[in-house]
Amino acid sequence: MNITNTPTSPVAIITGGAGGLGFAIAERLVRKGARVALFDFNEEALQKAQRELGEPTFVAKVDVADRTAVGLAVEAVAEAFGRINILINCAGITGYTNIKSHEVDLEDFNRVMRVNVNGCLNTFQAVVPHMLRQEYGRVLHFASISGKEGNAGMLAYSTSKAAVIGMTKVQGKEYAGTGITVNAIAPAVILTEIHTIMPEAQIKYMTDKIPMKRCGTKDEVAAIVEFIVSPEASFTTGFTFDLSGGRATY
Ligand SMILES: NC(=O)c1ccc[n+]([C@@H]2O[C@H](COP(=O)([O-])OP(=O)(O)OC[C@H]3O[C@@H](n4cnc5c(N)ncnc54)[C@H](O)[C@@H]3O)[C@@H](O)[C@H]2O)c1
Repeated sequence: MNITNTPTSPVAIITGGAGGLGFAIAERLVRKGARVALFDFNEEALQKAQRELGEPTFVAKVDVADRTAVGLAVEAVAEAFGRINILINCAGITGYTNIKSHEVDLEDFNRVMRVNVNGCLNTFQAVVPHMLRQEYGRVLHFASISGKEGNAGMLAYSTSKAAVIGMTKVQGKEYAGTGITVNAIAPAVILTEIHTIMPEAQIKYMTDKIPMKRCGTKDEVAAIVEFIVSPEASFTTGFTFDLSGGRATY
């Protein structure tokens, strides 16, 4: 892969970066001069993303639940770009929805936890040693309003996102004072591909609860993320940012 290494521009790893919010964030960061590395398990979408973003974009076909693959991909990014400044954990799945807790399939529940929770930890553990050496880093985990409030019909997803919020609080405290901030973001409904597999009734349930009575946009997500991972956002860590059109005011 031909990567032009511009030593001054920040390097961002974005998981789930080939689609949905991850790609929208990648587009914005590249526009602002960052070099991005996209980790995703959708190879076709990765190739398309790389063509659209242009060089230097690093792509790796990785399942974030696969710890070994994540470790190898992170080391490849560090070698290609020389450093890693930003980690954005965007890869996530809902699992089965619109079902009550007693109907939840344990294997599906475990799969959601492996991707949404272990996935965040796998990338974190591989990336943070690089950030510690640099005495600088910005980590952002994607949680969800469902992790704060609990969406009925979404046990696995809501539980996994609550875990991500807890993980963020711990990591924020543990690394405060190292130059690394660790934050999360908890969006309400933002229309992306993740909803194409969700029953209409589940989407209506979530949108009806938003005081602004609309879904958020990918641009609104990318804008707040750009700030959270910027050097200017230096006095906030362990925090879960809201992006819910007024649904969560805490
Ligand atoms: N869209 C929303 O309304 C919304 C709301 C709250 C939180 N979120 C969270 O934001 C994040 C992004 O959501 P989205 O709407 O862009 O989803 P999406 O389904 O549109 O995109 C997710 C991307 O992650 C990739 N991915 C999924 N599992 C993976 C795995 N195991 N390994 C590597 N890549 C994987 C997919 O291929 C896809 O490119 C998720 O964590 C989601 O839970 C989304």
